[in-house]
Amino acid sequence: MSIDLEQYSKYSKPGPRYTSYPTALEFSEDFKYEKYINYLKEGKDKLSLYVHLPFCRSACYFCGCNVVFTSKEDKLSRYSEYLKKEIDILANHIDTNREVIQFHFGGGTPTYYSAYELDEIMKHIKKRFPNFSKDAEISVEIDPRFFNQEQMEVFKQHGFNRISFGVQDFNKRVQEAVHRNQPYDLTKEAVDLARKYGINSINVDLIYGLPYQNLESFKETLSQVLTLDPDRLAVFNYAHVPWLKKTMRKFDETTLPSPTVKLEIFKYTIDFLTNNGYKMIGMDHFAKPEDELFTAIKKGELHRNFQGYTTKGGANLIGIGLTSIGEGARYYAQNTKDMKAYEAAIDSGRLPFERGVELSDDDYIRKQVIMELMANFSIDIKRVEKELGINFKEYFAKSLEALQEFIDEGLVTLSEDKLKVSQTGTLLIRNIAMPFDAYMQKYEGSKKSFSKTV
Ligand SMILES: C[S@@+](CC[C@H](N)C(=O)[O-])C[C@H]1O[C@@H](n2cnc3c(N)ncnc32)[C@H](O)[C@@H]1O
Ligand code: SF4
Repeated sequence: MSIDLEQYSKYSKPGPRYTSYPTALEFSEDFKYEKYINYLKEGKDKLSLYVHLPFCRSACYFCGCNVVFTSKEDKLSRYSEYLKKEIDILANHIDTNREVIQFHFGGGTPTYYSAYELDEIMKHIKKRFPNFSKDAEISVEIDPRFFNQEQMEVFKQHGFNRISFGVQDFNKRVQEAVHRNQPYDLTKEAVDLARKYGINSINVDLIYGLPYQNLESFKETLSQVLTLDPDRLAVFNYAHVPWLKKTMRKFDETTLPSPTVKLEIFKYTIDFLTNNGYKMIGMDHFAKPEDELFTAIKKGELHRNFQGYTTKGGANLIGIGLTSIGEGARYYAQNTKDMKAYEAAIDSGRLPFERGVELSDDDYIRKQVIMELMANFSIDIKRVEKELGINFKEYFAKSLEALQEFIDEGLVTLSEDKLKVSQTGTLLIRNIAMPFDAYMQKYEGSKKSFSKTV
């Protein structure tokens, strides 16, 4: 289907990616330490543990992650000692017999750590949280430029069954501009190594919207990525937030692709991957049809959280390490971003928790609706009314008014029992979710709040 994408570039405006609702801009110190500890103590849900290993050797200029750049090994060892102490403190405040159904090493570059240190950290986690379920999803983000067989052996020993590789783009010019030299062959070796050790869920991250990218260059990257035969792909819209991330200021903004080109690239990506046997999952993920993410969509069980899309919706996410974010049904909690404060908290026997938000009833209702939209591109109105005890059209009268322009454009259809986003509408899903966000007005006109939606 050929569509005129130019007309949709008008929707290019700042907007959240809704990995949480309320978004991180609403996190504050009003959510107190004692309250957080209470949530931990009283929680009964199964656990999803996220451990942040923030270090990287050098900066990719596009990077929006919470990273500490260093070449000093003693910094890494010092942090892992603190991490273990944090895990000990956490274990004093939580029922450690709760089942762990998900574990994730994120970064930074987790594999900047040696095999030995990764092993030590994992052993410590399992000592304190011994109840990993048999089919727990155990995953790690790997930069192929930092990955060796010894590390893979450690991951295998500890039952890792998912690996996500950062690729971003294979084009030389783009790689130079973003300061990330990563040849195809090196990436292929990394993927082969993981497969050799029996990892059968391999994800590859790509980004569109980077300097010098255009449709032709991205077509080539996609073809090359396909030869790696990933089980999943994440194709992220580059979040350009130079007011938050200094390295992004190194880009000459005139080399960034325009909103129309970005839409073209993403539209092509959807068609290309769909024609090659992948299914689109949510806003930016793709998976093979046999992947559980896709089966979850069919059952309406796909969820969205800080790690993107997941099938483990009901779990209580606990963030461990610098800047990590945790999530319970009624709260979000974030650790400090400052290494000194992180160490000081742990030295005084406290968790490095800094801020967060407790969800009001209204937050809770809007969160369910926004996440359903982001995950399934539709809202089952009758089910939402039953589960949340509201009259949908009355409760969201204002939101639906604001949504009218999308309905007029045929990007959304609204019937008695269903709100449904059209195929083209999925390209603008962040814009379509925004009318349901009660905090959006606060940021009207502010250019330094969120990255652009298109
Ligand atoms: C922590 S990194 C992945 C692991 C490893 N550090 C690497 O780069 O290979 C997580 C992913 O976030 C994505 N990412 C980072 N900065 C981004 C940005 N500004 N906009 C969109 N995606 C971004 C990249 O695709 C990256 O692979
Ligand atoms: S993209 Fe990955 S390797 Fe690059 S700076 Fe960010 S976290 Fe580090």
